[in-house]
Amino acid sequence: MIPMNQRRFIGLLACLVVIYVRRDNFHCNAQGECAQSILGDDDNDYSDYVDDLENNDFEHKLQQLQLVLSNALELRDERYLFNGGPWKLDRGVLMNRLDDEFVGYTERFNVLLDGAVGDGITNDTNAFLAAWNKACDARNGEVYVPSGYTFLVYPSTFSGPCRCNIRFAVEGTIVAPEEISAWDGLNVRYWLLFIHLDYFTLKGSGTFNGRGYNWWVCKEDKTCERAPTTVTVLKSSHVTVRTVTFVDAPQVHINFQDITEGHVKGITVLAPWSSPNTDGIHISGTTDFVVRNCYVATGDDCVSIVSGSRNIGVYDTYCGIGCHGISVGSLGYNGQHANVTQVQVKNCQLDSTTNGLRIKTWQGGTGIASNIDFRNIKMSNVSNPIIIDQFYCPPSQTEEPCSNLSTAVHIDLVKFTNITGTSASATAVKLACSDAEPCTNIRMKDINLTRMDGNTARAVCSNAVGVAMGVQIPPTCLTVNASALSSMPVQLCLHSLRLLRQLWDVAFP
Ligand SMILES: *[C@@H]1O[C@H](CO)[C@@H](O)[C@H](O)[C@H]1NC(C)=O
Ligand SMILES: *[C@@H]1O[C@H](CO)[C@@H](O)[C@H](O)[C@H]1NC(C)=O
Ligand SMILES: *[C@@H]1O[C@H](CO)[C@@H](O)[C@H](O)[C@H]1NC(C)=O
Ligand SMILES: *[C@@H]1O[C@H](CO)[C@@H](O)[C@H](O)[C@H]1NC(C)=O
Ligand SMILES: *[C@@H]1O[C@H](CO)[C@@H](O)[C@H](O)[C@H]1NC(C)=O
Ligand SMILES: *[C@@H]1O[C@H](CO)[C@@H](O)[C@H](O)[C@H]1NC(C)=O
Ligand SMILES: *[C@@H]1O[C@H](CO)[C@@H](O)[C@H](O)[C@H]1NC(C)=O
Repeated sequence: MIPMNQRRFIGLLACLVVIYVRRDNFHCNAQGECAQSILGDDDNDYSDYVDDLENNDFEHKLQQLQLVLSNALELRDERYLFNGGPWKLDRGVLMNRLDDEFVGYTERFNVLLDGAVGDGITNDTNAFLAAWNKACDARNGEVYVPSGYTFLVYPSTFSGPCRCNIRFAVEGTIVAPEEISAWDGLNVRYWLLFIHLDYFTLKGSGTFNGRGYNWWVCKEDKTCERAPTTVTVLKSSHVTVRTVTFVDAPQVHINFQDITEGHVKGITVLAPWSSPNTDGIHISGTTDFVVRNCYVATGDDCVSIVSGSRNIGVYDTYCGIGCHGISVGSLGYNGQHANVTQVQVKNCQLDSTTNGLRIKTWQGGTGIASNIDFRNIKMSNVSNPIIIDQFYCPPSQTEEPCSNLSTAVHIDLVKFTNITGTSASATAVKLACSDAEPCTNIRMKDINLTRMDGNTARAVCSNAVGVAMGVQIPPTCLTVNASALSSMPVQLCLHSLRLLRQLWDVAFP
């Protein structure tokens, strides 16, 4: 097989060729004027863009450009390899990256200039909305939230569509109102809602502090049911979220819902382990989305991927104490139809979390969760390192005790490969599948999970059919699918041929 570096190199070349060929329509979206604003030129030509770079510290910018390209290619690599799909250069993502690096072309709207005070007490909501409206009407506008200030912002909606792409650069701290009454008459699901955007970037070294303590208490008391999500990005496309920090959300920290294409990279999410339902990164109804290099330690799922999501990658991410794991689901609540497909979780680390890799479905749902690939995962002191739970029913989320029903969301084609480390509990592997809808085509390869206390761990299965290969510690409990085993060599061969074919396509597009 061609090593990664070489593949990158071929990719970079292919990318440059595509850019060269398409240089006359190299812009962020259909609106020509937006492209001009980014390129900073009148005739919108890539060569002028390069001229501009040459006049201005060419070497340095070239390095930046290469970095940007390789970042974009990294994304492409994952999607390409994972999908087995055609090599598609998305100028949008690339453009977002370029835009990120070359801030010179941005029209910046500092919230202080729109009257924000930033003392943590004054209501700065109107200033934020005013800056947003200006940036949204601008070419390549940016709302700028400076460092050294704390801005109190009440529940707000930042809506598009905007004239061009839009950025929200947070260097300071944004805090939510502490009192629950601030949501009186408003939708309690949202604190900051970003909606109907195309090419939206949220970035910076700043912090969103949800100050959710009052909500946590009322949820524990059951005097409230729902609580606001800190940042929701809804019904948007080409979304980038980078490097910002989220703390103490009333509920979910960041929710991506109904998004096509985007990525979240290098964010930090922190909340006490005891805070209820404080998921880190929640993804729903979203396609072609990558989570990379994130650090999450909260009181609920580290990353949760729910219905309507397709082609989602979670890479190089760390989940720390308090987290309930990297989860697909929950799915099929209250008889709902669910579908999640093509999820890859790779090179992640879970440390002292209550679950590791989890798929959770309620009894009574319909639909399917399929093609889910967990690989190269390091666990340490994790209570349920590998868990498929088709009887999901936490008392906190339902009034009635759950009964076993005649339908369930079908779980098919789930791979666990190279999963190592320690389990805090005796059961390191639990595949609890429904009688009504057994789990099919489960593949486990090179599993080495030992118990924290040195005792041997065990694997427990019900209605789980598949194939186990390589190291299996604890010994596998899968019901072996003999026909899958016998057809394996043929499949491997076909797979290699497919891979070769794809590499050929990359080299000679
Ligand atoms: C803060 O300002 C926003 C926007 O004008 C307003 O909706 C909200 O009620 C204000 N909150 C308080 C407590 O004054
Ligand atoms: C997948 O689920 C989403 C919402 O959960 C639904 O809107 C969509 O229609 C479903 N798609 C299919 C193909 O069933
Ligand atoms: C193991 O995880 C638990 C939380 O589940 C934590 O309290 C404990 O300190 C951890 N132990 C080690 C050795 O990390
Ligand atoms: C297994 O996963 C670890 C990370 O947990 C990684 O360092 C190692 O290279 C992987 N092994 C293989 C054969 O991919
Ligand atoms: C549902 O079925 C599972 C597995 O067969 C069993 O462990 C569980 O006790 C059942 N639950 C109820 C409420 O009957
Ligand atoms: C058994 O393996 C065959 C061949 O791969 C596959 O078509 C079938 O769905 C598998 N059955 C189960 C129950 O996993
Ligand atoms: C399993 O992991 C343990 C602890 O890391 C290690 O000592 C052991 O050699 C591993 N076993 C295999 C077969 O890889």
